[in-house]
Amino acid sequence: MLSDTAALAREAAQEGTGLGAFNVVLLDHGEAFVDAAQAQGLPIVLQLSQNAVAYHGGRLRPLGSALLELARGASVPVAVHLDHAEDTDLCREAIDLGFTSVMYDGSKLPDDLNRATTHSMVEYAHAHGVSVEAELGEVGGKNGVHDPSARTDPHDAAKFAEDTGVDLLAVAVGSSHAMVDRSAVLDTDLISRIAQEVDVPLVLHGSSGVSDEGMREAIRAGMTKINVSTHLNVVFTAEVREVLAEKPELVDPRKYVGPGNAVVRTEVERLLALYHSPLPVH
Ligand code: G3H
Ligand code: ZN
Repeated sequence: MLSDTAALAREAAQEGTGLGAFNVVLLDHGEAFVDAAQAQGLPIVLQLSQNAVAYHGGRLRPLGSALLELARGASVPVAVHLDHAEDTDLCREAIDLGFTSVMYDGSKLPDDLNRATTHSMVEYAHAHGVSVEAELGEVGGKNGVHDPSARTDPHDAAKFAEDTGVDLLAVAVGSSHAMVDRSAVLDTDLISRIAQEVDVPLVLHGSSGVSDEGMREAIRAGMTKINVSTHLNVVFTAEVREVLAEKPELVDPRKYVGPGNAVVRTEVERLLALYHSPLPVH
């Protein structure tokens, strides 16, 4: 069933579990993710990023509508989220199409402009019953707030969430995007301090770089929406490479995309179970 992202995140935060949010590039990914969630009987977020929309020629509606259909037909709660959107027109298009949340990413903007634009996006989204995730920016640093050294200040985070009215807040606590190994070390003390001060569920970006144990610690500390993309691409591509190396005569994409998706589905099942089995609180 199609479900509101923020409501699923609030439920997860209350019970101290993580809500898995996985990036879709091809429709096959969405199918694998929904199959995994149904097998585990757990909710899931399907995410389509602005970059993925650009890959599909700037077309949001064809794949976006298909993901909404997948969600409606699922036996478990499934949210459909627009990820890392810097384009406010694309955010409005996703909201109008029926996405259950959008991430307006103004983290590269000057702070006052990020706050003002996030706030106006919240007003539009809430008027349509849609939730908004956003992120504070960071001055300096080559990659700004997405640099692994970036850290969110708990007071700033609380004020940003209050000022803008966002439903979910992405925070910088030691992860970074697109890591192909799992060596990131998260600042779990900082996660706890932010979680104590901020009223809305917290979002971890760049979760691919975090180990299983690190993720369980982060969830116990108060992290809720767990965004994963690169790790699943690593798993998918490794399998496709292996199949094609073994059978170079294959030409039917179903014969190699299918096995790639099967391992992705198994890995998502495993991750959903991991996020749902928090460590006991001290
Ligand atoms: O918004 C999506 C995530 O932050 C994915 O990051 O590719 O490093 O897992 P990742
Ligand atoms: Zn991200």
